[in-house]
Amino acid sequence: MSTPSALFKKYDIPAPRYTSYPTVPYWSETPTLEAWLESLRQTLQEPGSKWSMYIHIPFCETLCTFCGCNTTITKNHKLENPYVARLLKEKDAYFKAAPDFQSRPLSQLHLGGGTPTFLSEEHLRALLQGLLGGLVKDEHFEGSIEVDPRRTRVTQLEVLREFGFNRVSLGVQDFDPEVQRLIHREQSFEQTKLITDEARRLGFTSVNFDLIYGLPKQNLTTISHMIEKTAQLRPDRIALYSFALVPWIKPGQRLFKDEDLPKGEEKRELYEKAREMLLAEGYLDIGMDHFALPSDELAKSSQRKALHRNFMGYTDQRTDILLGLGVSAISESPHMFFQNEKILPKFESLIDQTGFAPFRGHVLSKEDRHVRKQILELMTRGETSLQGDKDQGVIVERVQEMVKDGLARVDGDKVEILPEGRPFLRNLCLAFDRRFFSSQPETRIFSSSI
Ligand SMILES: C[S@@+](CC[C@H](N)C(=O)[O-])C[C@H]1O[C@@H](n2cnc3c(N)ncnc32)[C@H](O)[C@@H]1O
Ligand code: SF4
Repeated sequence: MSTPSALFKKYDIPAPRYTSYPTVPYWSETPTLEAWLESLRQTLQEPGSKWSMYIHIPFCETLCTFCGCNTTITKNHKLENPYVARLLKEKDAYFKAAPDFQSRPLSQLHLGGGTPTFLSEEHLRALLQGLLGGLVKDEHFEGSIEVDPRRTRVTQLEVLREFGFNRVSLGVQDFDPEVQRLIHREQSFEQTKLITDEARRLGFTSVNFDLIYGLPKQNLTTISHMIEKTAQLRPDRIALYSFALVPWIKPGQRLFKDEDLPKGEEKRELYEKAREMLLAEGYLDIGMDHFALPSDELAKSSQRKALHRNFMGYTDQRTDILLGLGVSAISESPHMFFQNEKILPKFESLIDQTGFAPFRGHVLSKEDRHVRKQILELMTRGETSLQGDKDQGVIVERVQEMVKDGLARVDGDKVEILPEGRPFLRNLCLAFDRRFFSSQPETRIFSSSI
């Protein structure tokens, strides 16, 4: 069996994070807008179908140089009003095309970005009124938002609570001043503490921190401090992301010096250290890069093997439709994926013309649906079945290397990740990824798996 260091070297290959299957670079069968709307209508008519909504707010006042999100960097708050108006126009267009949205209870509403708290209290209220007014909320409705503690006011959190929001996710990344300086994101512990405390006081039942390992100048000492500080505030959930280095897409990352970036085994040690400390603090490891306190719904779902995953990451509620509104937002139904235009001025003009902003998508083939289910099961439950799979032999062969290394197990039709293999879950999913093996893209598209 290989040593841990050899394992990290061996499995540190570019691999997707599998928030969808097929992954976006492999989308090929673009649906027409009419086919997409028909898929929504059909799904909404199925008894018991559930839906959720994602709203993308792209604006940020300053650029954090590590950032891989779709953002528009601006201090011009005059952009808020027209953007909110376009979001509501897009929502109205969907509701006109698929009127059952009005009567089917909404399970989740997530505001992401960019920075949703770029919006003033007034515009947040107008947006939420426009989105939720007249809608039926599911009895287990979850409203969640990504906030940047440097740009969040308590009065904004109050507006969110008025509309039933109960989850808040704080961008923290790291508490270390030198790391913060290098990523162009100076954020004091007090700012993070204030928003955490106020969110709790106002009744948000789940607070998440986004942390990242692999940023410039991080080392075992800074990572230990990061977890100690985090433990003081005790968020209910933690997303501990691997820094995705994609300078060919995000030129801001070219500002980092190569020698400052922890890589390979050194980077993995940062994750291991953080993980060990979080487990010692009572957090549960609930899926790729995610931790939660046992009292949190995500941890409970993970233990019931009832976790789900979509473009927003892990969730504790399975919904049949995710309707994404706003620039670059991605939607999904049981039959297809659909993404909005990614460039803001183009998005605006498309919405002005028709109310919709199609950019690309993918109609799932029968095989895609089968593989999607397998990869989803691996990501959320750590195991899946090969029963009746025409590619069983090929997959078992691809998994053999991980089996030999003590990272995965094949037991009859069942394939599962072993505890030692958890860091390499993406590699196991790759073995099932038919599209990846049938056509390798010519350009680099994914960040490294570790
Ligand atoms: C939209 S931001 C969060 C909200 C807000 N804009 C903020 O920064 O506080 C979403 C999260 O994605 C993660 N993220 C962004 N770029 C990343 C990258 N290159 N690698 C890993 N995680 C990244 C960060 O943890 C960030 O908090
Ligand atoms: S990390 Fe958040 S605040 Fe920073 S640029 Fe990205 S989306 Fe904007």
